Parts: sequence; C-alpha cells; structure tokens
Amino acid sequence: MKKGFLLVAFFFSSYFMIAQTVYDKFKPGEVWLDHKGNLINAHGGGFLYYNNTYYWFGEHKAAGEMGNKAMVGVHVYSSKDIYNWKDEGIALKMAKNKNSLLQKGCILERPKVIYNKKTGKFVMWFHHELKDQGYKAALTGVAVADKVTGPYKYINSFRLHSKVWPINFTKEQQESAALIYKTEFNKTRRGKEGLDLYRDFEVGQMSRDMTLYVDDDQQGYHITASEENQTLLISKLSDDYLSMTGEYVRILPGERNEGPAILKKDGKYYLFSSDLTGWLPNPARLAVSDNMMSGWKSLGNPCRGTEEENKTTFRSQSTYVLPIEGKKDAFIFVADRWDPKNLIDSQYILLPIEFENEIPFLKWYDSWNLNLFDKK
Ligand code: GAL
Repeated sequence: MKKGFLLVAFFFSSYFMIAQTVYDKFKPGEVWLDHKGNLINAHGGGFLYYNNTYYWFGEHKAAGEMGNKAMVGVHVYSSKDIYNWKDEGIALKMAKNKNSLLQKGCILERPKVIYNKKTGKFVMWFHHELKDQGYKAALTGVAVADKVTGPYKYINSFRLHSKVWPINFTKEQQESAALIYKTEFNKTRRGKEGLDLYRDFEVGQMSRDMTLYVDDDQQGYHITASEENQTLLISKLSDDYLSMTGEYVRILPGERNEGPAILKKDGKYYLFSSDLTGWLPNPARLAVSDNMMSGWKSLGNPCRGTEEENKTTFRSQSTYVLPIEGKKDAFIFVADRWDPKNLIDSQYILLPIEFENEIPFLKWYDSWNLNLFDKK
C-alpha cells in the first residue's frame, strides 16, 4: 500500500516536472502556460508592479463562443521575471447573489488594478455589461482589496459623470450639440460634435474599453471609450481611487478609439489604441500629449511591419503598456490576439516598444527577451 502510494507520488511529481515549462524569452502569439502548465487566462489584461513582483490581471475566458460571458471573474498571476507566471487564483469572483450586478453571465472586460499609496488599498476598475443586455449598459465597475491578489470586494458599477459636462466642452459646443441632436442627428457628426455626450448627459456617459494610469504625482486617471465608442474620456480619480472627481475631458472626438494604453516618457504621455472592429484586428493608433487632460495629437500607426502587419497590429489589439522596473525607458506593448470562436484560446502579443526620434514604434519579433532593452 505504502509502496503503491510512493509509486503514484513519483509518477505525479515526474509528470509535473515534465509538464512545467520554464521560459526565458517571449514568443508573441504562441501558447503561454502558467506554472501549473495551464494556458494563462488573463485577457484584456492589466499589470501592476508591487513588492518586487509583477501581477497580471485579466479576463478569465471560458471555451467556445459563449466564452465571453463572465462566469468566473478576474484572474491574477504573479511573476518575478515577466516570462514565468504563477497562477494566484481569482482576484475578483463573480457574485453568487442573483441580485448583484456582478452576477455570473454578465460581461466583465479589461480589468486594471492600481495601488493607492495613501490608503494601502488595491483598486480595480473594469468594463462591465449587465447580464443578458449585450453591450448596452456600458458601465464601469470598481472593486477594492487589502491584498494585491485579492479577494477584491465589488463596490459598484455606474455610468460616468451624470449631469456634468467635460471641462473641454464649451457652452457653445453644448448648445450646438443640443440643437443638432434634436434637429438633424447624423451619424457622421455624432462623435465630433458630442451628440451622444449630449444624449447621455442626464443618465451618465458610457464606459467600455478602459485603462487606468497613475502619474508620478500619484494622480489616478480612468481612460475609457465612451459616446458609442466614438470618443475617449479621461477622468481624474479621487485621492483614494475609488471614485471620480468629476473633472474629465473628451479626447480625439469622433476618432473611434478602443483598447487604450498609456506610457509616459520624458514628460510626454503616449496613448496606444485600436480602431473599432470588435474582435477583429485593425490598425493601431498612437497619440501624444504633454498633459493628460489636454492637447492630445494623433501620430498615426505605430507599427512598422509588412502591410498586413500594419493593417492588423500584428493580428492583435492593445490592452496595456507595461513599464519594466529598473530599466530606463523600457516598455512592453501588451495586446490580445482574439479568437472570437474560442476566446479562451486567444493568445498574447508582447512586443518591445522602441523609439526613434523620441516617437514610439512597434516591430515584430518571433522571439525576444528583456536584454533587448539594454542594447538600445
Ligand atoms: C472589442 C473590445 C473588446 C470586446 C469586443 C467585443 O472591440 O476591444 O474588449 O469588448 O469588442 O466585441
């Protein structure tokens, strides 16, 4: 009996030794396994560096076409080197209570976590759609935890800035939007002229694809696709990051940006984003500004590859820019290569962000490692 047990234990441990893959490089788009040998399941992800460790939060997808319904929650992994990831479990679990907005079967996308130095809490925001309502609700959700890996306590989900105009939408623009909306509503003008902004003024603005950014002065920002995905909104978070101050701007109106991801270098903010084609890949965009709350200018497509690669962002959609600790100006562009037929099988694209004349660009590598940043 004892001998038999030992034999089984031996087989098990050697099986796991074989199954465990140790990585020393990134292979964008290839199957990526966690420390247990399972597919990393953290899509539309965001990262946090805390206590000498990287944490990766993302959507836990299920197999098949229904895989986008949130049945499990937000998955979290940890890593010391960004190549090898340990499964840390489910950071935010779907609620069991059928009265909760966060019940199983709703949609929970693009979770991002930031750490608040003042309160010592970890704050998660995400895109939240209500059960059986498709993408109609367009809410942002917030949750909080004492430990980085959770459990995160769900606080609420809501539309943004009900009855508050963006600080860069003048009185004249408000009046003109009201007039056009009532008299000649027109799809091509909706984004540029803030027609959906006007429409949603009372109920609050829509929030879909989103990211968070904490600046050097610890000011937190929430960046989201709003106004039927026509325009991005940037909102200042409160000091504890759990709510919004009410100060917000519209940027790149009518330009239909999704998958926002921010990096800061030499005092300039760069915003990566995608076009609006659902799960299908499209050309990436880049914008720059000296100030999060004003002056954003488009810089075009940051990809430098074949025509096909540039048209599809190497068959991926941006989700985050990950700064590398301890290396100056070293950033990784993180994106999802969605497989809409089987979302759990969507792979991750991690590429180094390179710079020429101070402008970021992306180029394909079949395989690369962090030493690449030392050669620059
Ligand atoms: C994409 C978006 C994804 C998901 C998808 C659903 O445009 O970036 O996060 O919402 O649409 O079709």
